Amino acid sequence: MDEKPNERGIHQWSDISQFPEHLTKYWHQRYRIWAEYNRGIWMTEDAWFGVTPEPIANKIAAHLAESAPKEKTIIFDAFAGVGGNAIAFARSGRWEQVFAIEKDPKTMKCAKHNAKIYGVQNKIVWSTGDCFDILKRRFAGNSNIIIFASPPWGGTEYSSEDVFDLSKMEPYNLEKLYRGFSKYTKHVVLYLPRTSDLNQLARYATDGKKVEVAHYCAKGASKALCAYYGDFNFDVEEEEDGGEVTSAQSPECCV
Ligand SMILES: C[S@@+](CC[C@H](N)C(=O)[O-])C[C@H]1O[C@@H](n2cnc3c(N)ncnc32)[C@H](O)[C@@H]1O
Repeated sequence: MDEKPNERGIHQWSDISQFPEHLTKYWHQRYRIWAEYNRGIWMTEDAWFGVTPEPIANKIAAHLAESAPKEKTIIFDAFAGVGGNAIAFARSGRWEQVFAIEKDPKTMKCAKHNAKIYGVQNKIVWSTGDCFDILKRRFAGNSNIIIFASPPWGGTEYSSEDVFDLSKMEPYNLEKLYRGFSKYTKHVVLYLPRTSDLNQLARYATDGKKVEVAHYCAKGASKALCAYYGDFNFDVEEEEDGGEVTSAQSPECCV
């Protein structure tokens, strides 16, 4: 795509010589993160740390498409970043509406541009702002919504701990996320560090219900997990798709 970014902080890196040295490892992963990287993907420096790699985003989108109750027709990507998950949701074709919320305007510009590359820019409703605020203003009383949230994980601390304490996640801990979103729907999906404390996740299951936790793995190792709160039906047999990403569902976590 020919369009070039013309704003400081938004980049279309096409050569390693221009790429920030401290991010070099992401340069080598760029095609695993975006299969269409060479068509002119836009990124901010920060976005490399948080973007959901395309194969994982596609797998999550497929899981949500098959497991969410049929009457749920709206998906709300609360922390859309540069579009990794929102683009996958739109491409899945499952949703009548995909909302993508991002509070940083430059990151949002990248997301819209990247969605154009994947041909889904017009299939997504974009809002720049605070997701909690937008939910309150526009979604109170809407029963058809599923909230997907890939919040910031608070730097890279999570990777050095055996079990990641979700009460310390910055700037939004598990309590803030779950309470903030479950006011609007009981269908909440959180994308979190792979080492997240499962006991903490289980505490938010509603009485007698389970929380499904799926690990998303690439090259045989878990990269992240999703906690699925609400009535998701994972009884469907998973088809082998020959892709690079697999998922493993942990045993049910009940309280
Ligand atoms: C981990 S990244 C999301 C990555 C995204 N899933 C992707 O694939 O690009 C988290 C994003 O949330 C945004 N953010 C943080 N607080 C927010 C808020 N209150 N409302 C909306 N966006 C927020 C940050 O600017 C950041 O871009």
